This record gives sequence, C-alpha cells and structure tokens, in this order.
Amino acid sequence: MANDWIKESVVYQIYPLSFNDSNDDGIGDINGIKEKLPYLKNLGIDVIWLSPVYQSPMDDNGYDISNYYEINPMFGTKEDLIDLIKETHNQGMKLIMDLVLNHTSDEHVWFKEAKKSKDNPYRDYYIWSDTPNDITSVFSGSAWTKDILTGQYYFHLFSKKQPDLNWQNSALRHEIYQMINDWLDLGIDGFRLDVIDLIGKDVFNKKLSDGPYLETFLKEMHEACFKGRDILTVGEMPGLSLERAAYLTKEEDHLLSMVFQFDHISLDEQPGKGKWELKPLDLLDLKRVFKRQQEVYEKQGWGSLFWSNHDQPRAVSRYGSVNQRVLSSTMLHTLLFFQRGTPYIYQGEELGMTGYRFKLEEFKDIESINYYKEALALGINEADILKSLHQKSRDNSRTPMQWDDTKNAGFSNGTPWIKVNPNYKEINAANEQQDKNGVYHYIKKLLQLRKEKNVVKEGHFTPLDETSSQIFSYQRKTSNETLVVICNFTNEALTYDLSTYQSYELLLTNQPITNDHCLSPYQAIVYYKENNHGNH
Ligand code: NOJ
Repeated sequence: MANDWIKESVVYQIYPLSFNDSNDDGIGDINGIKEKLPYLKNLGIDVIWLSPVYQSPMDDNGYDISNYYEINPMFGTKEDLIDLIKETHNQGMKLIMDLVLNHTSDEHVWFKEAKKSKDNPYRDYYIWSDTPNDITSVFSGSAWTKDILTGQYYFHLFSKKQPDLNWQNSALRHEIYQMINDWLDLGIDGFRLDVIDLIGKDVFNKKLSDGPYLETFLKEMHEACFKGRDILTVGEMPGLSLERAAYLTKEEDHLLSMVFQFDHISLDEQPGKGKWELKPLDLLDLKRVFKRQQEVYEKQGWGSLFWSNHDQPRAVSRYGSVNQRVLSSTMLHTLLFFQRGTPYIYQGEELGMTGYRFKLEEFKDIESINYYKEALALGINEADILKSLHQKSRDNSRTPMQWDDTKNAGFSNGTPWIKVNPNYKEINAANEQQDKNGVYHYIKKLLQLRKEKNVVKEGHFTPLDETSSQIFSYQRKTSNETLVVICNFTNEALTYDLSTYQSYELLLTNQPITNDHCLSPYQAIVYYKENNHGNH
C-alpha cells in the first residue's frame, strides 16, 4: 500500500506528444513540459506521470520501446530529461516515468538478435511457437505473426511491432531490473507500469492477465528494485480482479503503491463484446462498482481514482454533456475525487477539454485504424464504425493541449501531428485561468480541500440514495469529521432535500444552491462538519 505522501498526492498525466511543443516541429517535447511546470504547480499537482519518451519507432506512440536507456530524439535528449527531473524537484513536485515491460518494439536489439536464428542467445527473450493458438491481438487479428527466416511465429498481444517479452527467462528479467535501477538512480520518483498484469502469463495455456507467475515476478522485481526506495509505483492491470489488486498493493508488502483498473469505465460497453459495442451508462452500475472498490480498499491496499487517460476518451464527452461542459466536468470530478484513493488528472481535464469528431482520414491511432479495417472486412457499415470511433477512439484524448486562443491553441507554431480540437478558441488554459467559475479553478479548489480534510484520505465510505439512478451521493466519515458528497448526474433539476444538512458547512459546490429542496442540473455539492462527540 501507499506511503502517506502517496495517499495525499495528486498525479497529473502528461502525454508528451500532445502537451507542449517547444521547437515547433508539431510534436510536444520535454523542454515544452519544462516550460509548463509552474502551471502544474499552480494547479496543485504533486506528481507528474510522463507517458513514454524512450527511443521508439512510435508504432504505438512510444508504448513500443526500442531502447529503454535512450530518449526519443523527437522529445529531446537524455540531458533534457535529467534537467526536467531536476526542475520538477526544484518546484516541489515528483516525476514518474511510464515503463513498458510486457513487450518491446520489434526494433529493439533484443528482438533483432532473437530473430536471427532459433539458437540466438536472445531467442528466448520472446515467445515463439511452431503452432500458433487462437489468441487475438488487442489491436485486431491474430496475436501471432510468422517470422519468415525461421518459420516460427512470435507472440504479440498488441501490434506486430510489439513482440511480447518472455518473462520466464531469468536473464531477461535481470536485464530489466538493472535498467529499472538505473532510472531510479537517476532520480525518477517511480513508474507507471504498462499492462504489468500480463508479465506472469502462460500463453500456451491461454492464461494472460494475472498469470501463474505474476506474483513471483512482482515480488522479485520489488526485491531487486523498489524495496527501500520511497517511490510511487502504479501498475496498469486491466485484467486483474479487484481483490487481487488490493492484495498486491497491501501495506505489509508494498509490492506496488496502487493499480489502475477499468471496471468503472467499461460500463458503457456491451458485456463481453469488447470496447467498440456500446450501451448507455447506467448510473446504478457505476455506483455498484465504486461502492465495491471503496469497500475492498478500506480493508486492504490502496486505489487510484481516474476518469480519463491517453487510452480513454474524455469523461465530459462520455458521461457528461459538452453543452454543459463546466457543470458536468466539475460534477464528475467531485463525484470521483472525494473517494478514497489517489486522484489522477489527464492533461486538459482541468480545462474541461472535450473529445473531437475526427474525420476518417484524420485518425492516427493504430488501434482505431486496425479496428476500422477489421470492421469493414466484417461487413459493418462505415457509419456505424465511425460512430464507435467517435465514442471510443483513443485519439479523442490525444488532441493537443489547448493553452490559449492563438494558432494551434498555443501548442505549436508548426503543423501539429494530430488535429487540434477547433473549440480551442473558447476552451483553453488562458481563458480558464481567468474564469473563477470555470473548471480549472474548481479543480484547484477541490485538490486543496482534499489535502486539508483528513476525512478524504481516511474516512469510511457509505453510499447514500443507493437506489437512485440519477443522483450519486455518499458520506465519508472518521471519528472526527463527516463529509457528504451529492451529485446530480443528469441534465435535469431534481427534487432533493438539502435541509438535512443545515448543520453542515457548505464546503464546495459547482453552482449556487437556489433552493434547499432542489438540485440543479449537474449540480455537485460537498458538505462538511466536525463531529460533535456526545451530542449527535
Ligand atoms: C496500455 C497503454 O496505456 C496503451 O496506450 C498501449 O497501447 C498498451 N498498453 C500497449 O502498450
């Protein structure tokens, strides 16, 4: 489980390609990030998570690493990164790197060697078979690709340019541990570990997530790299059960500080049909998932709180309303960020940035492009494919950060690598910072309150209005403090008795309370009181 500073921290995810371009080549870079550190500090951020900046052919935007030790020149140099770490520390924040350990790029020297012959010393760093089974890739098609030279197939759960590493090879594991230690020695404050639930897999028995060796390898990695270091580690573990996640983050072992799971954000998918076949979100499902998470993590481990990331469309477009952007995004963050766990903000969420309806030829993401081709071949009509892509494509959240209303939203003077959302004239950091009633200032205030009130860290979670499919409300309570969060998840005014909370302080609300028997559309209210012992 997490140390105290981790429990009190707020993490901000930067997707470097789209954050800030300092040299006008249309691609965000490390020096661009450095320029914006004061902006992040001002927002109240404690930890920055950088999506991968390692050397990579960028088949999957950096999640295909060809050299773990080097920086991709499009982002800058290793000196730039060392400087960024130093500057981040100078400004009182920490920096964690993304690390992709389940697979490398096919351009990594290990794979180049492995491909040379069946008896190459690196052959066993990857997973090979003469007879591929029917496992499919997350990015469409078979997870096996034939290597022409040796006639064997190699395994890749993602693109064919991302061969999976064979973690059962101990030499490989120790090379990885060495590399992790080298980064930590350089001053990094931890890692976000990409699909780390997959490293213990047994491909031949089709056990992928939480495979038979996961715990052994995590323990070994912890012993070899993390133990005794005051760092934050967050494991992306999409396939793990909640109980296992809590177990792997438990205080006694501290194998990982916390994990990312996706139960709460796959509720708008039709069960068992993957990410592209959608259904409307039922608030009762969301309440059930959050309640269970809160209950499990109260007993053991520590959780993460997030709505969006570089793989997930922006929450305001997905669950809120673009027309009620400020109200619905502030409501969504209130609902989530007063729960137990460490909050994560994905770049632009603090501005209420929205998704963008890309034209077909504008999509950049390999997953979207492969899905389009596969769906078309299956006879799905183009309009339906586009509808799914508009809702779920990862490109939605990858449009450049909207800094101001100048050319390309102030992101770059060059040609941005991906379309800038045209709504940047209205939605941008400069406007938001001036607007005391906007999303930015609300989130900033919310983050301050989280820090001030111990009940947010420790309080027991009790759901309120449990059967309501329109209102999400809950109480957090310690022996000293009580906090009540009430959120109208709909675009309608709802009858609700707020007079019950007369004795509470109104800690936060995203719009004035007009009537103590009514919640306005997307209203979020947080009440607080110190418990008066002996006088209930
Ligand atoms: C999860 C990452 O978040 C995603 O962007 C990537 O495509 C896959 N893992 C594969 O590395």
